[in-house]
Amino acid sequence: MFSFRNAAVAAAVMAGTSFVAAQSGVLYPGLGRTATPKEVAAWDIDVRPDFKGLPVGSGSVSKGQDVWEGKCAQCHGVFGDSNEVFSPLIGGTTADDIKTGRVAKLKDSTAGRTTIMKVATLSTLWDYIHRAMPWTQPKSLSTDEVYSVTAFLLNLAGVVPDNFTLSDKNIAEVQARMPNRNGMTTEHALWPGNEFHGTKAPDVKNTACMKDCATEFTVTSFLPDFARNAHGNLAQQNRTVGAQHGADTTRPENKGPVSSAAALVPVVIAQTAAGGQDSKIAQALTQKNSCAACHAVDRKILGPSFADIAKKYPGQADYLVGKIKSGGTGVWGPIPMPAQSLADVDAKVIASWLAAGAAK
Ligand code: HEC
Ligand code: HEC
Repeated sequence: MFSFRNAAVAAAVMAGTSFVAAQSGVLYPGLGRTATPKEVAAWDIDVRPDFKGLPVGSGSVSKGQDVWEGKCAQCHGVFGDSNEVFSPLIGGTTADDIKTGRVAKLKDSTAGRTTIMKVATLSTLWDYIHRAMPWTQPKSLSTDEVYSVTAFLLNLAGVVPDNFTLSDKNIAEVQARMPNRNGMTTEHALWPGNEFHGTKAPDVKNTACMKDCATEFTVTSFLPDFARNAHGNLAQQNRTVGAQHGADTTRPENKGPVSSAAALVPVVIAQTAAGGQDSKIAQALTQKNSCAACHAVDRKILGPSFADIAKKYPGQADYLVGKIKSGGTGVWGPIPMPAQSLADVDAKVIASWLAAGAAK
């Protein structure tokens, strides 16, 4: 639970004013003020696995369907099975899993994993939707909307029937039907403490070799060639805290020098404008600046495809630089694009590439 002590510190830091020291409960005299019970309540929204913290309320599957179709389906798909913006939420569980509490498909290492396959505690699903969804408007759902949309997802997974109403009264019974409720383990011993019986983590259970020990070792874990450049050239990526000394992943390991991003940029602007081969670099910059989370070159994700943007704004690099930085809504649909805080030069390279046709 969110502690009152932390809330007081947070409120004090945020207020940043020098204020009352004589008040009781003040941790740092002269700094901030004690958080009011209302402020603490606004932060203190976590729901525990034993449902402590769960607000009173209820919501039906059919009401949940309305919430889902209005506020969730555009990203997660009508049946919660879309993988357009995130891995599917629903799918991969069976009636048998509901009996055993252990999702059989998780044993298949090649099968994809959906949220409902993994989540062991219903409180986690409820809490996450309540605090984080819809993605573009977190905390906008009412308590009853959270109950109803959670009921709808559980219905899609066959955990509750069509005419079900989920509430604080019956949520524990539904927990007892979660397909992967017995799938949580503490055997990995990642959490210390008596409640886990002081189990030693499996990876430190080795015993030291005292005789006939191996003298040569084979490396069994490495980055395969196809994955090497999967996130764009690491050497050209920068963090806000400074340059990242990544490998030049555009070439095989240990072949030639790492090129400097700064030196490349003017060349890139010239070449992308001319549709040169360095459109690869513009695309790498869309990876680096996380545009690729919402945009792909030739298909719509959350935002329009870069090809469609290029078609709409030929030669209009200046307009595009402005829109990339400011974001906006209403040109392509109702989903907003948040303002982007990328380097000017990155925005220019991307905009020139778009204005020149977004060549692959
Ligand atoms: C604009 C797109 C968008 C909308 C609308 C949206 N979501 Fe999401 N949702 C996401 C993304 C992206 C993630 C992954 C977020 C992350 O991991 O940071 C996510 C994650 C989730 C998860 C967690 C899955 C997991 O395994 O971690 C749940 C549950 C969920 N959404 C339910 C909902 C519900 C219910 C609604 C409607 C009330 C909704 N979402 C609306 C984009 C969206
Ligand atoms: C959270 C998702 C998201 C991210 C991240 C994102 N965009 Fe967008 N983008 C959108 C959406 C949604 C639209 C459509 C907005 C509209 O309809 O006005 C859009 C529109 C655009 C447009 C067209 C603007 C117009 O006026 O027609 C450009 C150009 C663009 N994005 C470039 C980028 C670049 C470059 C980045 C990375 C620096 C980026 N976007 C990051 C979601 C995103």
